[in-house]
Amino acid sequence: MQLENKTAIVTGGNSGIGEAIVRRLASEGANVVIDYVAKPDDAADLVKDITTAGGKAMGVEADVSRPTEIQKLIDSAVHEYGRLDVMVNNAGIEKRHSLLDADEESFDLVVAVDLKSAFFGTQLAAKQFVSQGGGGVVVNVSSVHEDWPMPGNISYCVAKGGMRMLTRTAGVELGPQGIRVINIAPGAVATPINTKTLNDPEQKQKLEDAIPLGKVAEPSEIGDAVLFAASDAARYITATTIFVDGGIMQSSVGL
Ligand code: BGC
Repeated sequence: MQLENKTAIVTGGNSGIGEAIVRRLASEGANVVIDYVAKPDDAADLVKDITTAGGKAMGVEADVSRPTEIQKLIDSAVHEYGRLDVMVNNAGIEKRHSLLDADEESFDLVVAVDLKSAFFGTQLAAKQFVSQGGGGVVVNVSSVHEDWPMPGNISYCVAKGGMRMLTRTAGVELGPQGIRVINIAPGAVATPINTKTLNDPEQKQKLEDAIPLGKVAEPSEIGDAVLFAASDAARYITATTIFVDGGIMQSSVGL
């Protein structure tokens, strides 16, 4: 059990990659705290699944684009389990638009959910780690698009690019306090965010042809990488990104 007696918060934990991360961390003994806004039933089902299997998990109603609600999530975790050890800033959305088509409302929404939540999630978790002592780990789930332009998805790229520098800068600032900050950057993953592409046979084929490992990732493959980043096995890794993309960023086959 790599995370026995550790407590982890996973934002956006009730669907897609987040759900796989929750299941993986819980299977290694972590107490897992999940936020929810829109789908309380999904969070409740997931918590039930984990507790039935002998794990520990709880859901908290919190909109992670608001720092006060992230604080509520952290306070609930500490109240229930005594301390916080791992903060996974995973919540993310995308709104497909180009620069010329973007409007203020959807730009603000993408940046608030993807970047602002990770920024304050990192800050508030770090404050908790410092006050309780003993260090901690922040894992930010970014994307290959933290470094790789995706025309037609510009607000998402801007937010993920911001996460890249958040992790590098926060990792440098927090290293002396024993706090590690790592980005896990998935490529294409079989989750609701990619449903449209994966339901279109032509687009799906194009995507798979561009991936050297020949297939879209399963969410569990990202969950495994987050577990590694959060565990002691990654104790000398900080202020950087681990790409989990089947090689797509290095591929010369265009999308
Ligand atoms: C995006 C997907 C995209 C994938 C690979 C992900 O971060 O959410 O829409 O298919 O990157 O380009």
